[in-house]
Amino acid sequence: STVMAEEAKKLAACAAVDNHIQNNQVVGVGSGSTIVYAVDRLAERVRQEKLNIVCVPTSFQARQLILQHGLSLSDLDRHPDLDVAIDGADEVDDSLTLIKGGGGCLTQEKIVAGCAKHFIVIADYRKDSKALGQQWKKGVPVEVVPMAYVPVSRAITRRFGGEAVLRMAVSKAGPVVTDNSNFILDWKFEQAQNWKEVNTAVKMIPGVVETGLFVGMAEKVYFGMEDGSV
Ligand code: A5P
Repeated sequence: STVMAEEAKKLAACAAVDNHIQNNQVVGVGSGSTIVYAVDRLAERVRQEKLNIVCVPTSFQARQLILQHGLSLSDLDRHPDLDVAIDGADEVDDSLTLIKGGGGCLTQEKIVAGCAKHFIVIADYRKDSKALGQQWKKGVPVEVVPMAYVPVSRAITRRFGGEAVLRMAVSKAGPVVTDNSNFILDWKFEQAQNWKEVNTAVKMIPGVVETGLFVGMAEKVYFGMEDGSV
């Protein structure tokens, strides 16, 4: 039988929560649509197994998810050492480099993932790619300080080609504003790159807050597959 993408997300999310969450852990909670299934499963396990789990959110959305599920909410001030962080991704290549930030939460996601001993990614089969850009055509999100979006856009495309466009809001006239009050550039690249180098170079451009390239961070990726396997 063929499994739809939503079911595949759920399968990946449950497998990750079941394999990586244990009692007395501090857990980073990612953002997006797949993480919703992970928080559902986490809340179920906390209830059933009476687990003591503290959650650190990566976005306003994640914070709301934690609160809505009655989970214990913390932050990096109180819990800077996370046992595990779980998050979705827009695309994953065969060396586990990720594109993230489709939902605009890349900066806090990268901070939280970087504080975790183990960073576990959950996704449906559509995110599985040999090389970045094959699946996710929206490019690499880059969070920028608002007044710098034009110079940053020009600096990225001058050096690496393609185009970097300001992400616009859908139900408001104007740009998307992140949880950190910044803008997002979506850099549509034209060819495969050395992503580690690109990540470092783009981060050095004045005005860049963070890139949606996660290089050498993911320890494991759970893909929910079309045949119902993980
Ligand atoms: C949020 O900014 C993103 O990085 C998400 O983690 C990513 O877009 C995955 O989202 P889905 O689970 O909705 O695919």
